[in-house]
Amino acid sequence: MEPTFSEASLSPSSSASARPTIHVRRPKFDFDDIDRPFFYRDNPILSAFFVSVSAAFPPGEAAFIRAVKRYEDEIQDPKLRQDIREFTLQEGLHSFHHRQMNKAFERVGYAADSASQRWDEIIEAENASDEDALARTVAMEHITAVMAKVALENPALLAPMPESLRQAFAWHAIEEIEHKSVAFEVYMKVIGDRWRLRRALLHQHRSFFSTARTIQFELLGKLDYQPTMKHRIEALRQFLQPRGIFRALAGESLRFMGQDFHPWDVDESALIGDAEQMLDPAYRAA
Ligand SMILES: [Fe+2]
Ligand SMILES: [Fe+2]
Repeated sequence: MEPTFSEASLSPSSSASARPTIHVRRPKFDFDDIDRPFFYRDNPILSAFFVSVSAAFPPGEAAFIRAVKRYEDEIQDPKLRQDIREFTLQEGLHSFHHRQMNKAFERVGYAADSASQRWDEIIEAENASDEDALARTVAMEHITAVMAKVALENPALLAPMPESLRQAFAWHAIEEIEHKSVAFEVYMKVIGDRWRLRRALLHQHRSFFSTARTIQFELLGKLDYQPTMKHRIEALRQFLQPRGIFRALAGESLRFMGQDFHPWDVDESALIGDAEQMLDPAYRAA
């Protein structure tokens, strides 16, 4: 069934009090409906992009958890300490389900496990200091929250996926928005240098998307697939469309560079409420 939900409330909010509670859901997915490699609009480039991103999550989210937990003992605020626990649980469960998803991608021919290992090597090779690791985590939490917002605001983006995949990406997107400020608030409490954050965001824009693209085409190479011009044009249109990820990132990342930026300056709680309605009870657990 085509999901429908209204636009999020985008009213500026100077207070962070409107944010939703971070809620750890425990869905279940078998991903048995992923039954062919080019599962997204029969387009190999777009399909491999989602495989590349899914392969990034287990090593990436493990690095985010390490970066935040490194500073946990320096946080006195009981609410933020609780948020760190919920953030850790959410990211741990995301990684668990993306590993299952990656196994399904392996079954239809992708080298998803070795793609995850490649991501892990690239993340480890950056060998960032603890301060930079936390700043880069804040930057990646920003990028993933913007990707999540784009996916939930525009249901047509997830609609072409096999249903279990669509449900999993929607669930992950909801929780990325819920916990989007946790790493930022830890960073501001223990480091607070906004210039380091801005440099980290520029770095992550380059490194995340160039790595995603490299691995996407390595995955296709291992499938012995040569991209056609038709598929390239279709993929470019999807990425560059007015409501697509790159236009959203351009605007939201400019906002991130501002003097007083806080992730909850834009209240997306209504977007979460609407998106939860599309989660099928068949995949919804506790
Ligand atoms: Fe996540
Ligand atoms: Fe996250």
